Amino acid sequence: MTILSVQSTIFSRASVVLLSSNGLKRFSFASSFSSNAVYSSPLPKMKKRRYPIVSAVDIGGVTIARNDVVRDDDPTNNVPDSIFSKLGMQLHRRDKHPIGIIKNGIYEYFDSNYAKKFEKFEDLSPIVSTKQNFDDVLVPADHVSRSLNDTYYVDPQTVLRCHTSAHQAELLRKGHRRFLVTGDVYRRDSIDATHYPVFHQMEGFCIFSPEDWNDSGIDSTLYAAEDLKKCLEGLARHLFGAVEMRWVDTYFPFTNPSFELEIYFKEDWLEVLGCGVTEQVILKQSGLDNNVAWAFGLGLERLAMVLFDIPDIRLFWSSDERFTSQFGKGELGVKFKPFSKYPPCYKDISFWISDSFTENNFCDVVRGIAGDLVEEVKLIDNFTNKKGMTSHCYRIVFRSMERSLTDEEVNDLQSKVRDEVQRKLNVELR
Ligand code: DAH
Repeated sequence: MTILSVQSTIFSRASVVLLSSNGLKRFSFASSFSSNAVYSSPLPKMKKRRYPIVSAVDIGGVTIARNDVVRDDDPTNNVPDSIFSKLGMQLHRRDKHPIGIIKNGIYEYFDSNYAKKFEKFEDLSPIVSTKQNFDDVLVPADHVSRSLNDTYYVDPQTVLRCHTSAHQAELLRKGHRRFLVTGDVYRRDSIDATHYPVFHQMEGFCIFSPEDWNDSGIDSTLYAAEDLKKCLEGLARHLFGAVEMRWVDTYFPFTNPSFELEIYFKEDWLEVLGCGVTEQVILKQSGLDNNVAWAFGLGLERLAMVLFDIPDIRLFWSSDERFTSQFGKGELGVKFKPFSKYPPCYKDISFWISDSFTENNFCDVVRGIAGDLVEEVKLIDNFTNKKGMTSHCYRIVFRSMERSLTDEEVNDLQSKVRDEVQRKLNVELR
């Protein structure tokens, strides 16, 4: 099993591809739990749908209507129903779910090791402004993460947050100084066992005043960097026990210096978080010129896949009892026992692409139709003919975690994919 590419962070050096460089590809950065969803009745006289359309979701007591987030009238809007339905799920707030268990384990570490407690936020709306998501944390105007190919836009000024760093500046402005923000984050991405367009992050932020570092004999930046490393090494040991770890220098727009922490796991180095000393400009925006701060962002799915031995990121969204019953409140690191998988079904689709074609757009179409029944989308053939036309052939792997799919059902999904791809993506089927 390779889990080295599980989503955790973006913005690190590997992903700094500028929009202007025409390099829009960025693959190398970091159920039906329906209690919060309000379902409308199935649409009359339409072909049978696999999933009911969710008409509204509840996020921390606020009802968000589908029409506010999935908008046909705005050409910028690229939020499909499959993503909207995830908005109120809040897996991180379920004490018996691996994501909630990991979160509680991290809380425990901070509560028992820090006398100056960290405030906790886990209910902030994932619908944020582009200012919060990008500008406030100094993401350059031409950074690839701002593209429609990478981020879900509600309208030109509003996105589904692609990282929990989106809340740093806002919380600072409101007077918070030491906090942990946990939440669901959204990124358009390819489809496989380690990539899912919704996952969970925790952001940590800690500020220091001159009296903290004055007696240390070292300058404020070094003081914060050392404190940060000590804190996160302790957290890794709390979660993983006596593990080997190493620090790697990297780049994030919002920190300087910036680091990634890697742990040695199953004979490989695995990046588990990004962090650094907060850029002074961010503090200055809140009148905190005389302070220094550190921040980190970690991917909860990545940690949970390692800790619980969970082989497929889609399992986190499964309501199959064979999955859910294996985890209990406070049981950090119980090993997941795989249950027999249902058979996969492979379908290929080939088409001539146009200049505007992107793999993320294709994946969104497939996921929009097949939801969690799609396990993987793989490019298996790619060539350009003498006329300069480029053909792509994708293999789609359909598989349910909960039952055997029938031929009829898969053929029906594939035929819908063919129709939609042609209609939405301006490609010519072969
Ligand atoms: N927001 C980054 C990401 O999603 C992760 C991160 C890196 C958060 C460094 C931080 C930080 O607060 O200091 O890729």
